Amino acid sequence: MPEDDRKKRAIRSFVLRQGRMTASQRNALERLWPRYGLAYDTSPLDLDTVFGRQAPRFVEIGFGRGDALAEMAAAHPEHDYLGIEVHRPGVGHLLIRIEQDGLKNIRIVNHDAVQVLTHMLPPGSLDGIYLFFPDPWHKKRHHKRRIVQPDFVEVLSRVLKPGGILHMATDWQDYAEHMRTVLATSPTFINTVPGDGYADRGGRPQTKYEQRGRRLGHEVYDLRYRRQ
Ligand SMILES: C[S@@+](CC[C@H](N)C(=O)[O-])C[C@H]1O[C@@H](n2cnc3c(N)ncnc32)[C@H](O)[C@@H]1O
Repeated sequence: MPEDDRKKRAIRSFVLRQGRMTASQRNALERLWPRYGLAYDTSPLDLDTVFGRQAPRFVEIGFGRGDALAEMAAAHPEHDYLGIEVHRPGVGHLLIRIEQDGLKNIRIVNHDAVQVLTHMLPPGSLDGIYLFFPDPWHKKRHHKRRIVQPDFVEVLSRVLKPGGILHMATDWQDYAEHMRTVLATSPTFINTVPGDGYADRGGRPQTKYEQRGRRLGHEVYDLRYRRQ
């Protein structure tokens, strides 16, 4: 493989800190993972089999503790949700909520979302993708680690149905501008807000991460694009 390709592949949007896992998160992972977790694989999933029905399908990339995902799934029992997150304690936290709230419409993959979307999701299989508060990588020398890049947008466009929605949010103005710039280069995504503006939050639930940003005085930017 050429050196440049190898470097490109090695750049990831996350640094895996396993962090501290609570006893209840570990317990939830042991008990509930077999029911709600999907092992990473390089062949495409049959989503009707995974969820046991046909329904509109949504993915949340980097769900953190999963509170937004749990709220959306509770508000829309008629939709199916696939959550993708690399941080295992967050997966444990979401499993606890799935059990507490009796949610049947969530499945989880604990792996790099770029690989999951590339290999595990069939083309045109999603009605919507949520990317809420991706790691900002705010230092200039780290900007290449930001998950929103032209290649990533191509991956999203493959798995979304025509008419499917990409909803992103960030509390870093320069990341919001970066998102707009990258999406403007895509031939398949159209900003749903006239004049290439920012969107309202729609039904996006608030997470702890957002609350913390707001306490620090950060403004929040929502961006909503439609796949043509
Ligand atoms: C800043 S946190 C925000 C979490 C959550 N969306 C929220 O609003 O509270 C970003 C999350 O994205 C996850 N993440 C970053 N890159 C990822 C990737 N390539 N695949 C899956 N998860 C990723 C991180 O582990 C982290 O939990």
